[in-house]
Amino acid sequence: MEPAVWLRDNCVCPRCRDPHSGQRLVALADIPADIAVVGRDGAVVTFSDGHRGEVGEPPAPGDGRTEDAKTLWDAVDVPRWSWREYLDDPVPAARAVWETGFCLLTSTPTQPGTVLAVARSFGHVRTTNYGELFDVRIEERPNNLAFTGLAIGPHTDNPYRDPVPTIQLLHCLRNSAEGGESGLLDGFRAADLLRQRHPEYFRILTSTPVTFAWSDGTTRLRAEKPIIGLDPLGRVREVRYNHRSLRPPASADFYAAYRAFDDVLNRPGATVTFRLDPGDCVIFDNTRLMHSRTAFTTASERHLQGCYADLDALQTFLEESS
Ligand code: FE2
Repeated sequence: MEPAVWLRDNCVCPRCRDPHSGQRLVALADIPADIAVVGRDGAVVTFSDGHRGEVGEPPAPGDGRTEDAKTLWDAVDVPRWSWREYLDDPVPAARAVWETGFCLLTSTPTQPGTVLAVARSFGHVRTTNYGELFDVRIEERPNNLAFTGLAIGPHTDNPYRDPVPTIQLLHCLRNSAEGGESGLLDGFRAADLLRQRHPEYFRILTSTPVTFAWSDGTTRLRAEKPIIGLDPLGRVREVRYNHRSLRPPASADFYAAYRAFDDVLNRPGATVTFRLDPGDCVIFDNTRLMHSRTAFTTASERHLQGCYADLDALQTFLEESS
């Protein structure tokens, strides 16, 4: 049987739980440390403090954010739905973001700002110093290499921010560029492979706090986190990976581990590649997936709009819609 203190604390009678919110009315300090069960008849329990209560079903533990709750993959087929299919039934696409880590919506409207409507269809836009949305196109004096035609290797966005934006959206308005292919890979799968192949390197990347930083004339951002974040049970919960903004520790061991992880990320067959055409909007879990793009010709036109959103709203959306 469950411990008496747990049973007393999990009493669901109206004196112990607010009937509207379901929240606890009893403080831990209200329960005697030596509380005991003096009688039980099914769900009805009598306690040594004189309270006669009712024990409910404990809710399922966990929040579904760790690796064991996900479907890990190597270069899967792109889970894709048209905007019309998504509007008819958004659940499969939202579930793909939650479980596989991403989905692609095709034939969305190509008006500027549409990316915000896509984010608001399942959650809330996370406004940052970049604004509600950001334009990814070639700029003359870019404050970020994203705004050039250069190749960008696998990375997560905004690792220099805590909390990090947990969902990213990228919406294509125009793309006549040669090159500029988009790539996504599963960072949780890569972390799992590193753990299997090089347990010592895995230990270094999960236990070494590193600083990520970004600044321009008005904003200075910094966050200190390990590259692979574990929960207290040792399950992978978050990856932060961005060579552009990393301030690496002056440690040869760190570099050996970092390089080994980089090798795993760049292994053949890890990355799913696709071209974003006008109207395509990719939605992905920025705590798990790493995105990249190949170089493209700077004379051509490639214009994406991106924004951030969060997994907590997506989870609510999924649970309410299913
Ligand atoms: Fe990015």
